Amino acid sequence: MLKPGVLPRRIIGEVISRFERKGINIIALKMLKMDKSKAEVHYAEHKGRDFYEKLVVYTVSGPVIAMVLEGDGVISRVRRLTGATDINESTPGTLRGDFAASTRLNIVHASDSAESAGREIALFFKTEEIFTWEDGNARWF
Ligand SMILES: Nc1ncnc2c1ncn2[C@@H]1O[C@H](COP(=O)(O)OP(=O)(O)OP(=O)(O)O)[C@@H](O)[C@H]1O
Ligand SMILES: [Mg+2]
Repeated sequence: MLKPGVLPRRIIGEVISRFERKGINIIALKMLKMDKSKAEVHYAEHKGRDFYEKLVVYTVSGPVIAMVLEGDGVISRVRRLTGATDINESTPGTLRGDFAASTRLNIVHASDSAESAGREIALFFKTEEIFTWEDGNARWF
């Protein structure tokens, strides 16, 4: 998920192209504004942490771009492209290393396991909004 800071900075294309260039398949994509309850469910694992309230405020502050990405080892590949959570640890060349100016306002969320991906995908997408590449999307290229 591209967080609300991405749209006003006009870097949606740049962020998404990092995943495309790495050969990861985009199988679902939409822009939407999360409401407070959706953001609280999305970040439920962090309830009670000192950054939680501000994280929710940031998450609902503007439109996000939600995507479902597919590929071999996609969870770890996407998280490597995303970079470390801590702004002091995120390496140049990663999305957070190149674009995030703070740990909290860190531009991209990436699912951290198949289980959380399943739960998060269901928060954003209906089954019919997800298109597998086996359906033939890639056959023209
Ligand atoms: N110490 C912190 N201070 C401020 N914000 C934080 C801190 N730790 C995490 N966050 C915010 O909470 C989000 C969720 O934290 P988490 O530990 O799940 O990191 P992550 O898995 O790298 O990020 P995300 O879940 O957004 O992909 C982070 O992306 C960041 O926006
Ligand atoms: Mg996380």
